[in-house]
Amino acid sequence: MKSSITQGVKILATGSAVPDLCISNELISNMVDTSDEWIFNRTGIKERRISSSPTSLIDMATAASMNALNKTHINAIDLDLIILATSTPNDLFGSASQLQAKIGASKAIAFDITAACSGFVIAMVTATQFIQNGSYSNVLVVGADVLSKWTNWSDRRTCILFGDGAGAAILQSCSVLENNILGFHLNTNGQKFDQLNIQCEYSNHDKNFFSKGLKGSFKYITMHGKEVYKFAVSKVPQSIQACLGSLNLSSENIDWLLLHQANERILYAVASRLMIPSEKVISNLAKYGNTSAASIPLALNEALEDNKIQNGDLIVMSGFGAGLTWGTLIIKWYR
Ligand code: COA
Repeated sequence: MKSSITQGVKILATGSAVPDLCISNELISNMVDTSDEWIFNRTGIKERRISSSPTSLIDMATAASMNALNKTHINAIDLDLIILATSTPNDLFGSASQLQAKIGASKAIAFDITAACSGFVIAMVTATQFIQNGSYSNVLVVGADVLSKWTNWSDRRTCILFGDGAGAAILQSCSVLENNILGFHLNTNGQKFDQLNIQCEYSNHDKNFFSKGLKGSFKYITMHGKEVYKFAVSKVPQSIQACLGSLNLSSENIDWLLLHQANERILYAVASRLMIPSEKVISNLAKYGNTSAASIPLALNEALEDNKIQNGDLIVMSGFGAGLTWGTLIIKWYR
């Protein structure tokens, strides 16, 4: 996709936050018929963080945002735009405005993006458009989810996978020469939306609407695990190759492969298809499980704090999941 680029995009800083409550595989084995061995062998997950407060999404998003902002020279009041990628808002009309109020970013326009586990990549691409065309200068992008609230804790096929968390990135316009965001590639296949979804349902749907009302609610997460697995290991490498190709790069140029942290087997299967050595794969899902839109910024922030990522490194990020959606963003890292 072509656009008129007048500005570059610099990633000034990242931040993250997770709840304190840690739920181990052993603990889950007391609730459903599973075991630490089964979960770890099939997914690479050892434990996950679960939030208990009703305001947890905003609290975590705020903590991650402040963590990122505090590493920069700008204040919340300098932000022009806030994009919150979440599929678990605490208000169906959107949660980004609550984040805007909580951090005191009163000059910023704020909105949500709902794209499940691709949410952070799509939010970064969206923010990039606003900066590259000169509309906004300082942008906060947050990926935050509390999937624990929509997980059926008696369904062993899904409850082992998910955790809660938030990650943030502060983007700023810069000269085109200093640009960090090299390219992106996004896809959707709505034909397969029901492979992974949280479906809306209405009570009294066959009764008289006006006398009884029509109350909406949502079901638990449902997932066709094997199908989602096959989708990820086939489509994500294609997306990465298409994105690399558009920039005249190849997988040999990749320093870090930062995939949505869904399943360790998916991370290494994608790396293997692209012939990327396992040392270049960033993985933290043993500690957090699948935190949906939070997983990429959470892992990015940890990798930066651990000084894994160096100046000039090429980072390939790919998100994938419900929708079905998937997408790749390629970044050249400069401090
Ligand atoms: N503990 C023990 N046994 C379990 C189990 C659990 N938590 N969950 C499923 N099983 C059982 C199944 O009942 C099945 O038993 P059966 O053969 O007697 O019927 C067996 O294990 C194999 O189940 P299956 O679903 O085929 O396992 P799998 O190897 O596909 O692994 C997933 C399941 C969910 C780990 C895997 O499919 C996966 O990771 N898919 C991608 C999911 C994902 O990443 N979703 C989010 C994308 S954003």
